[in-house]
Amino acid sequence: MISELLRKRLAAAEFVVAFTGAGISAESGVPTFRSNDGIWKKFKPEELASVDGFMRNPELVWHWYSERRKVIRSVQPNAGHRALAALEQCVPFVTVVTQNIDNLHRRAGSTRVFELHGNIERNYCMQCGTTFMDVETHLIEGIPYCRTERNGKACSGLIRPDVVWFGEILPEDEWNGAVAAMESADVVLSIGTSGVVFPAASLPYSAKQHGAFLVEVNPEPTPLTESADEFLHGAAGIVLPTIVEEVFSHHNK
Ligand code: OAD
Repeated sequence: MISELLRKRLAAAEFVVAFTGAGISAESGVPTFRSNDGIWKKFKPEELASVDGFMRNPELVWHWYSERRKVIRSVQPNAGHRALAALEQCVPFVTVVTQNIDNLHRRAGSTRVFELHGNIERNYCMQCGTTFMDVETHLIEGIPYCRTERNGKACSGLIRPDVVWFGEILPEDEWNGAVAAMESADVVLSIGTSGVVFPAASLPYSAKQHGAFLVEVNPEPTPLTESADEFLHGAAGIVLPTIVEEVFSHHNK
C-alpha cells in the first residue's frame, strides 16, 4: 500500500506534521461537517458558529455546544489518532496541526498539538477573558456568566466556548506554531479534511512550497489532491496504522 518513495521519505524524515480535520475523528463517532449527514447539512453555521448568532441566541448556541461536548466526551480516540501518537516514537519531531476542537489527539497521547480552531473543553469570558474549563456552576437559565472579581466588583460577562467561529481570527500562538512547523516539515500528512476552510487550508500548500513531501489521506479527493505528492485513498483509522507499521516496524528496518 505504501510506495517506496513515501517509505523512504518518512523513514528519513526528521520533522513530520499531521494536518487533521473532522475526518480523522469520524471513526470515533464524531460527525464531520460537510458529508451528506454532516453538521452543516443539518444546522446553519451562521446561527451556531458566529458571534452574531451567539449574541442573538446564547442559550441555543450553548445548548448545541453542550450536546457536542457530551458526544465528544463519550467517544474514544481511534486507531488513526493512536497511530499519530505512536509516530512520536519513530520520528524525532512530530507535530499535529488540527482544525478539530475535540481534544482527541491529546487524549490519544500526541504531545505537540496546535489547535487552530480552539478546544471545546475550554471556555472564556467575553468581557474579562478569564478561562473556564467547566461552566456548570456558572449557569443562569442555561447561559454561563462570569463572576470573576475585579477591583471589588464581580464581572458579569457572557462566557463563550473557546472555539473559532466564522469570521474570527485564529489564535495567534497556535497559528504561528503551525506555520513554523509546516515550513520546517520534511513530510506533511493531510488527513480527513475537505481543505475548504481558510486560512487553515492554506498550510499544506505552504509546506509544499517550503519543500515538504505532501501526502493526503482521505476516502474522497479534495481540492488539495492534485497538489499532493501522494494520495492515500482510505479511512484514517486504517491507512495511518498501516503507514506506521509498514515504514517503522522492525521487519522493515
Ligand atoms: P469536513 O467535514 O469539511 O471534511 C471532512 C473530510 O474528512 C472530508 O474530506 C471527508 O471525505 C473526510 N473523511 C471522512 N471520513 C474519513 C475517515 N474515516 N478518514 C479520513 N478522512 C475521512 O471537515 P473539516 O475539513 O475538518 O471549522 O472542516 C474544516 C472546518 O470547517 C472545521 O474545522 C470547522 C468547519 O466549519 C470551524 O468550525 C471554524
